[in-house]
Amino acid sequence: MSKTYSIAVIPGDGTGPEVVAEGIKVLNAISAKAGFKLALKYYDFGGERYLRTGEVLPDSAVSDLRKHDAIFLGAIGHPDVKPGILEKGILLRLRFELDQYINLRPVKLYPGVDCPLKGKGPADIDFVVVRENTEGIYAGAGGVLKKGTPDEVAVQESINTRKGVERCIRYAFEYCKKRNKDMKLTLCGKTNVLTFAFDLWERTFYEVAKEYPDVKVDYAHVDAITMWFVKNPEWFDVIVTDNMFGDIITDLGAMIQGGMGIAAGGNINPEGVSMFEPIGGSAPKYKGKNMINPLAAICAAGLMLEHLEETESGKAIEKSVMKITEKEIKSLAAGQMGHTTSEVGDLVVKNL
Ligand code: IPM
Ligand code: MN
Repeated sequence: MSKTYSIAVIPGDGTGPEVVAEGIKVLNAISAKAGFKLALKYYDFGGERYLRTGEVLPDSAVSDLRKHDAIFLGAIGHPDVKPGILEKGILLRLRFELDQYINLRPVKLYPGVDCPLKGKGPADIDFVVVRENTEGIYAGAGGVLKKGTPDEVAVQESINTRKGVERCIRYAFEYCKKRNKDMKLTLCGKTNVLTFAFDLWERTFYEVAKEYPDVKVDYAHVDAITMWFVKNPEWFDVIVTDNMFGDIITDLGAMIQGGMGIAAGGNINPEGVSMFEPIGGSAPKYKGKNMINPLAAICAAGLMLEHLEETESGKAIEKSVMKITEKEIKSLAAGQMGHTTSEVGDLVVKNL
């Protein structure tokens, strides 16, 4: 009997539904070839639903989502909803409540993709950022006093627990081993200023490193790493860092791999339900125009299959995407691909 994976699909806002449709198209094609099945269940969480019902996430959402093998998410964010409501109420809430403590962000320049770095090509840009995804400044610890007065005080603290830091670092070592590329793991921190938080990170990093003698370890301050991403991206194999730094450096990573049109990520709970998404956002101005690039969502679908241990199928999706970037599309930018959104999905299917 063939295996069936239960997938929760959250198309979300803006161009989310269009890119998710292409991701599903590719998933259906590869599953038919590889002989596994997908049982899809759609959820309408997002800005439209919030504006219609006033509810960001129904109470049942988290327990419903927990029942699936994985979650495939389009984009969250709506021009008519104040920033923060949907991001915190949907995306961050799911990351926290489903304890998706890893944010995995491959940064890989595919052939044919324009790179803004002079003289750098696909051989130079191929690394993965392992971002802690449930703690740090994102934990929401802190508060405000005397709001709106001249004496206002705002405190937003970074929470770093030994358990949270250690499980993230362990995941990164394991990932580095499994990836088996340069066998090098870099801790990205700020030990020269954040002498409490990154002291914990640094001590934990070197303690855990003793269990992985085959992995070379390195350290870089976060400000320096932004320089090296631009000047020497080939130095990196796997990078592990906290939530906030990871958020920032992965956007820089997305730009050096060709932009948001190609960047995908996974919110991973190795023991639970993980969620895969293109990281580009909802791009409302392109909504419904069949112009947006679906490759990031298709890559996210590939990451999801790799996570579900349909490794060959996941890799096949990536290979097909690489053929498209190399030969078929003119640019990754919306409206400049030389093809519509759905045509790009068809091309990926054809090249599988
Ligand atoms: C990301 C996004 C989110 C984050 C936002 C939308 C809350 O920027 O996934 O990187 O800050 O984590
Ligand atoms: Mn971000």
